[in-house]
Amino acid sequence: MTTLPHPELFVRWFRQAAPYVHAFRGRTFVIGFGGEMIAERTRFANFVHDLNLLAALGIRLVLVHGARTQIEAELRAKGLRSRYAKGMRITDAASLTAVKHAAGVLRVEIEALLSQGLPNSPMAGGAIRVGSGNYLIARPIGVVDGVDFQFTGAVRKVEAAAIARRLETGEIVLVPHIGYSPTGEVFNLSWEDVAESVAIALKADKLLLLSDRLPENRKGEPVHEMTAREAEALLKLNPEPRDLARILRCALRSLAGGVGRAHIVSRRSDGGTLLELFTHSGVGTMITADPVEQLRPARIEDAGGIIALIEPLEADGTLVKRNRERLEQEIGNFEVMVHDGVVVGCAALYPYPESKSAEFACLAVAPDYRGSDYGERLLGACEARAKARKIRRLFALTTRAQHWFVDQGFREAGVDALPGERKALYNWKRGSKIFLKRI
Ligand SMILES: CC(C)(COP(=O)(O)OP(=O)(O)OC[C@H]1O[C@@H](n2cnc3c(N)ncnc32)[C@H](O)[C@@H]1OP(=O)(O)O)[C@@H](O)C(=O)NCCC(=O)NCCS
Repeated sequence: MTTLPHPELFVRWFRQAAPYVHAFRGRTFVIGFGGEMIAERTRFANFVHDLNLLAALGIRLVLVHGARTQIEAELRAKGLRSRYAKGMRITDAASLTAVKHAAGVLRVEIEALLSQGLPNSPMAGGAIRVGSGNYLIARPIGVVDGVDFQFTGAVRKVEAAAIARRLETGEIVLVPHIGYSPTGEVFNLSWEDVAESVAIALKADKLLLLSDRLPENRKGEPVHEMTAREAEALLKLNPEPRDLARILRCALRSLAGGVGRAHIVSRRSDGGTLLELFTHSGVGTMITADPVEQLRPARIEDAGGIIALIEPLEADGTLVKRNRERLEQEIGNFEVMVHDGVVVGCAALYPYPESKSAEFACLAVAPDYRGSDYGERLLGACEARAKARKIRRLFALTTRAQHWFVDQGFREAGVDALPGERKALYNWKRGSKIFLKRI
């Protein structure tokens, strides 16, 4: 029997992933990758295992693949040359044959990998249905600056409803870099464009693009988070390497088209997709249309995220255990701080209108995010709510964060300072300190 070298690290990591698991269930992710990724057998097999895991967590997955490497290999074997203009392949009749062969072979290979389910393998019991088909209507690129691109095409329409129906049944949808025109012609498309178009058409929550390289700052270090505006500035400053610039542009257009987040992930990192999605700092580059963090009133779908956040604090006695059903009923009392769709902070306001006071309660910020003023901003949002309801006094009960409240302008008071109804519920055994603030 093999034992884990550091089981405590595994447990810590697994717990840390819980909020992401809650946040991602039922979401639609489009993942695009080139043919060169499929050519690296072992790494690709690991990548497919990771996709299988994502699907098992209830994420709706659409995979978009390319075949540049495979098309080039076939043309080379036939003694033919690949021709490119403006960074795009000129698909002549011979290339189109290679495109069709590659698409057929790759489809079978990807489906085979996703169909594995042997015991004692990462795919045990996990065989997943794959839906592939004619989801793309294409048009020819035509003649650009005197160059006839022949069978190289662009996406004209994505049959989003047809893809969504397959996703609804729990299938992973595989979309190749091939489109058909209404006249029955076949066109070779770039996988980046297809991934972008599919993500926009599906209003995907995330578009993940696997790339050779990540965007870098002036010091040559990878950038892990960027807004669309920052990415545009980076592109202007540094439009090379061309493949990365192309991927960045697709990411930017997808955000402009309503996709929630775009991520660029290195195709060379084993498990890179999982690390990018399930860790706070990630290993790739996340590009967002708006600021990544958001402070807003909680909605019912945040209940799972709030519970994941407060559970460890309830377990160690920092917070009083809350009844889950009541938490859902009282969700309207909560404000949440959300980072990339994950609840990383929460606080609640419970008004006692008769005494023109309110309890500021259930304040929690996830450990990785402490010290960034999230606590203060959550208090600010609750204060604003309280003022709107003509409340004059906030009170809080705490056993561990006395000084935090003092720093925020609260002063310690006795139990008698609590409104009558709240005083009746005061837990003398817990012995919380009471803090008051006039607002
Ligand atoms: C208390 C808590 C919400 C603060 O969140 P936060 O986002 O880190 O707070 P802010 O960034 O606004 O403030 C950070 C400051 O508060 C201080 N602080 C944080 N927790 C503190 C505590 N328990 N006691 C005293 N000071 C504390 C930090 O040292 C920091 O001080 P600095 O600015 O001088 O460095 C967070 O630490 C937490 O979730 N703790 C566990 C849950 C808890 O105790 N909740 C209160 C129960 S009533």
